[in-house]
Amino acid sequence: MISGKAKVCGIMANPVEHSLSPMMHNFYANEMGIDFVYVPFKVPEESVEAAVRGAYALNLAGMNITVPHKQRVVPYLKELDEAAEAIGAVNTLVRVEGGYKGYNTDAPGLLRAMTEAGMDIEGRDCLLIGAGGAAKAAAYVLGCQGAASVIILNRNQEKAQKLAGDMNRRFGRMFMAAMALSDYGKIPDRPYLAVQTTSVGMHPDVCHAPVEDKGFYRNIPCAVEIIYTPSKTRFMSLVEEAGGRSVNGLDMLIYQGIEAFELWNPGRSVSEEIVNRARQMMRKELEK
Ligand code: ATR
Repeated sequence: MISGKAKVCGIMANPVEHSLSPMMHNFYANEMGIDFVYVPFKVPEESVEAAVRGAYALNLAGMNITVPHKQRVVPYLKELDEAAEAIGAVNTLVRVEGGYKGYNTDAPGLLRAMTEAGMDIEGRDCLLIGAGGAAKAAAYVLGCQGAASVIILNRNQEKAQKLAGDMNRRFGRMFMAAMALSDYGKIPDRPYLAVQTTSVGMHPDVCHAPVEDKGFYRNIPCAVEIIYTPSKTRFMSLVEEAGGRSVNGLDMLIYQGIEAFELWNPGRSVSEEIVNRARQMMRKELEK
């Protein structure tokens, strides 16, 4: 039941219709008996500032921000947490005195998904495929967790170079290097932990992988895919055919949501049992 005291949060996106976040957050609130409601808001580009100010005026406790507003929202925030500042993108707002504080829960969400999958980052040689928004969050996680080295492979090499340079400066060590995706054959032969962050292979483009050459995958015993539709991308199949292990992006989606839910509801943590049921519910929803 939603009372007059309900905490109200929502998601700001365009389009917003396909978002699974309302389903996830309202499920947690229901299961945990929290007086909380989460609603979708379709916000066009030109209305981002008005929407942030309007949300504050309406006493909203928080907001998720997603495509295409994660960077655009930054100038309208009161403060940023460290991850959001490093990544340059915000996916969660938390109400503070006079406005909202911006967080990036994609990074802790990815870390938690990797940790639960038993993929330790510390001391590992990593491959980061892509250099867009999702890659920035992944690069930050790899840096924070002490990756030994990171090769960023991207179609546009300049973007990869910029990301590698930014992260090397931030972490004060030269552990990230950039390469054009087409030069994948030049990476040193050794086992890598790979994070796939491009949109290649995402529904309906299910027949493609960022690299098609089967030889490439012999160096990837372990991989995280950020895509969750389809549940097994061609990239994941290629990793597995070469004898490696892979996980898709569903847990990252779930854990970024839980991180946000817990920021809005301090002192409450979503139990493992509820997470498992949420995962089942989401899988069913994605099969529809
Ligand atoms: P997101 O925020 O989801 O990461 P993005 O910032 O638009 O989205 O980044 C998309 C990523 O997918 C980029 O790394 C992009 O490569 P470029 O920087 O070279 O554009 C990558 N990408 C998209 N389509 C691709 C394709 N057909 N082949 C290779 N990489 C592709």
